Amino acid sequence: MEVVRAESAGFCFGVEKAMEKAYRQIEKKAKDGDKIYTFGPLIHNEEVVKELKQKGVEVIDSVEELKEIKEGSVIIRSHGVSREIYHILEERGVECIDATCPFVKRIHKIVEKESEQGKKIIIIGNDGHPEVEGIKDWCHSPAIVIESKEDALNFTFEEGEKLCIVSQTTFNYNKFQELVEIFKKRGYDISVVNTICNATEERQTAARELAAKADVMIVIGGINSSNTRKLYEICKSECEDTHFIQTLDDLNLDLPKSVRLVGITAGASTPNNIIEEVQNYVRINF
Ligand code: F3S
Repeated sequence: MEVVRAESAGFCFGVEKAMEKAYRQIEKKAKDGDKIYTFGPLIHNEEVVKELKQKGVEVIDSVEELKEIKEGSVIIRSHGVSREIYHILEERGVECIDATCPFVKRIHKIVEKESEQGKKIIIIGNDGHPEVEGIKDWCHSPAIVIESKEDALNFTFEEGEKLCIVSQTTFNYNKFQELVEIFKKRGYDISVVNTICNATEERQTAARELAAKADVMIVIGGINSSNTRKLYEICKSECEDTHFIQTLDDLNLDLPKSVRLVGITAGASTPNNIIEEVQNYVRINF
């Protein structure tokens, strides 16, 4: 029996960088004895958040809580944040460890510049998602979030208004194209910047290809991680015997002799050691 790990399983580039920054700060803190916070959980993985807590990293959940902080450092996670958060940290004299993914930072710069030049910013993405909320605040005028065909069709604009369209990094590319087409057909004066990051798509494609060949698939990730849930759905549609687990403890496998290939994939917030643990367990025990 073969156990194969899908390509691109686990941390993406942005999450990897955020984790590195957090651990570097923990090491530094061990010397200085300073407090460390993350603004929101650093990643959607309970195990990692627990481990960080054991190392003294606390999670701040609201702006109100942030305003109470008097010392130490705050890590900004890869989704990025609004300008307001940087201002609060500066005002309070708290060190900012900025782990915003460079791909998200690029969007902040685009919307800041384009809105300054008078363009209306359209963000194609999910309203309320922390990344989208952050992007909105980097615009100099109110941005519009478009999630669906209906939103795009219902959008009205003022005569002569110029638009700049960007996307949430994890948005589906085909859907983005479809929505952009609606704007183009209506004859708006638009500039479109495709700001989708391909890490999610690469991970999903690799998982789909592996699941199509596998007899059993294991998807590892946090229960609240939407990208892991999506991976699970993709694998399940290709391979009926697909298991969704958070850690090895959740794995309840009973593999018949006929099983030839077990595939493993993991969401963007799943650390390598958890993936390896599962991979080794299946290799050794079956
Ligand atoms: Fe960055 Fe793409 Fe990951 S935007 S955080 S590398 S999904």
